[in-house]
Amino acid sequence: MAGRIAIIGGTGKMGQWFAKFFVKKGFKVVISGRFPQRTAKIAKSLGVEAAHSNKEAVKNANLVVVSTPIQTSPKIITEVAHHMRKGSVLFDIASVKKDVIKALKDAQKQGIRTISVHPLFGPGAKNINNRRVILIPVSDDVKVLKEISELFEEEGAAITIVKDAETHDRVMAYTLALPHFINILFGCLVSSSNFEVAKYGGTTLALQLMITQSVFSEDPSLYSTIQMENTHFSILLKDFLRQAHKLIKIIENEDTEEFMKVFQETKNALSKDPMFKDAYDKFYKALESVDTFEK
Ligand SMILES: NC(=O)c1ccc[n+]([C@@H]2O[C@H](COP(=O)([O-])OP(=O)(O)OC[C@H]3O[C@@H](n4cnc5c(N)ncnc54)[C@H](OP(=O)(O)O)[C@@H]3O)[C@@H](O)[C@H]2O)c1
Repeated sequence: MAGRIAIIGGTGKMGQWFAKFFVKKGFKVVISGRFPQRTAKIAKSLGVEAAHSNKEAVKNANLVVVSTPIQTSPKIITEVAHHMRKGSVLFDIASVKKDVIKALKDAQKQGIRTISVHPLFGPGAKNINNRRVILIPVSDDVKVLKEISELFEEEGAAITIVKDAETHDRVMAYTLALPHFINILFGCLVSSSNFEVAKYGGTTLALQLMITQSVFSEDPSLYSTIQMENTHFSILLKDFLRQAHKLIKIIENEDTEEFMKVFQETKNALSKDPMFKDAYDKFYKALESVDTFEK
C-alpha cells in the first residue's frame, strides 16, 4: 500500500497516534477534525497536512482511517465513503463494532474496500511492537485483509482476525469492558474509604492500584461508551452479580470448604492458559518497575 492517508478525527488521541505511525512509515498524511484552526495547529505539530473538512481530507486518499468517537463513527463512515475514490481503502478503529460494521458494509457496496480494525492499546503505546491489533473482515476481499495485516505486522504487531462484529463485541465485553468495570469499582470503593490506601498497601495493592489509576487517567466519555454501548456487557453484568452474590454468600456463611472448591475449580480452568505457570514470577518482575512504598 502506498500514497496518501487521511485520518478523520486526526486531532484526537488515537488519530494523532496513527498520524505519527504513518508518517514514520513514510506515508503522506492529511488529518481532519471539526475545527479547522485546531486541526491546522495539531497538523503543524505533527508535520502533516490539515484539511478543512472530512470531504477534502479523503478526496485523494488511498487509505482513510476513521478515528472518531464510537457513536459518531458510523455517520462519518457513511459521510466520507461518498467522497472517496472507488477502490480505495477505509477502516475505523472503534472499540465497539455493532454499528460501524453496518456502515462499512454499505460503503463496500459503493466500491470502497473496507475492513474494521481495533487496536488493543491506547495512545500511550510507544510503538506497536507486541501490541495486539484485531481485524474484522467486512467482505470476502482477502487482498484488503492482507494489505492491512502487513501494514501493522511489519512493525511487530500481533494480528488477531475476528470473524464478525458480534464476536468482537461479545469478546470485548470480557476483555475490555469487564476489566475497566472491575477497576472502576475498585477505585470507587477505595476512594470512599477514609484512609490513604497506598500507605498501607503491599505487593498486590501496588500493581492493582497502578492499573486502577491508569484506568482513571483515561477519557471518561470513551470509557462510558465502552460500558454502555456494548450490549453484550449488560448481559455479562448479570452474570457478574450472580457470581458476586454466590461468593458473598460463601464468605458470609464462613464456608471454607465451598470457598476452596470454587478457588480450585477456577484455578484449574485458568491454568489451561500457558501464561499461568509464570504469572507469579512475572508479577514480582512487574513490581520491580513500581515504586511500592512512599519512603
Ligand atoms: N483511546 C483509546 O485508548 C482507544 C483505543 C482503541 C480504540 N479507540 C477508538 O478510537 C476512536 C477515537 O478515540 P480517541 O480516544 O482518540 O478519542 P478522542 O481523543 O476524543 O478523538 C476523537 C476525535 O474525533 C474528532 N471528531 C469528532 N467528531 C468529528 C467529526 N464530525 N469530524 C471529524 N472529526 C471528528 C474530534 O476532533 P475535534 O474535536 O478536533 O473535532 C476528536 O479529536 C474511538 O472510536 C475509540 O473507540 C480508542
